[in-house]
Amino acid sequence: MLSQEQKKQLWDFARENSQSHLYFIGHESHVAWESRRMAPKLDADPDICEISGVLHDLGYSVDPKHHIRESQGLATTALKEAEVDPSTTYRIVHSIATHDAILDPFRVPMENVVMNEVDAGCFFRHYMGLARWMYNDLLNKVEQPERLPKVKTSLLEHAIETETYIRLPLIRREYEEDIEKHKERIQRMTDSNLSSY
Ligand SMILES: [Fe+2]
Ligand SMILES: [Fe+2]
Repeated sequence: MLSQEQKKQLWDFARENSQSHLYFIGHESHVAWESRRMAPKLDADPDICEISGVLHDLGYSVDPKHHIRESQGLATTALKEAEVDPSTTYRIVHSIATHDAILDPFRVPMENVVMNEVDAGCFFRHYMGLARWMYNDLLNKVEQPERLPKVKTSLLEHAIETETYIRLPLIRREYEEDIEKHKERIQRMTDSNLSSY
């Protein structure tokens, strides 16, 4: 399937092509490691989960509006350079193609479901590393006096949507505490701690 050398090459490619070092460390690496760790518990292939995880968001560096399509393209290039066989390439690129959606484990491979749900879970667990940019963007867009309620509502809506992706009970249990902490953090926001959130 994948040799250690191929995996190293793919990780190097991801590190070099990520939209930022912070995003690579704070999100893509975690999705890769945590997907790999969850894989055996759900009968999924650890290598497919790990490598689709590390490559899944690279497209943000090319076109944030169509990051999934661009990630598929970059992953295809990386897998070709690493001389990965066609069937493994297909499974990895297919898993990237289905991320950011609610998936039915009876219709897509378990590797896709694991990576997709862990991706959502990592948003909650590693929030500070991942979503600073999203939050700062929001702060800059919204003016006082409605800033606080608007920021809170927008963050909560995003949290609730992201949470709906996590459906497998095993993955749900894994991230339950992080989801609750994240929501509490939003509720605790006040005007005075808004900019240090
Ligand atoms: Fe994504
Ligand atoms: Fe992601």
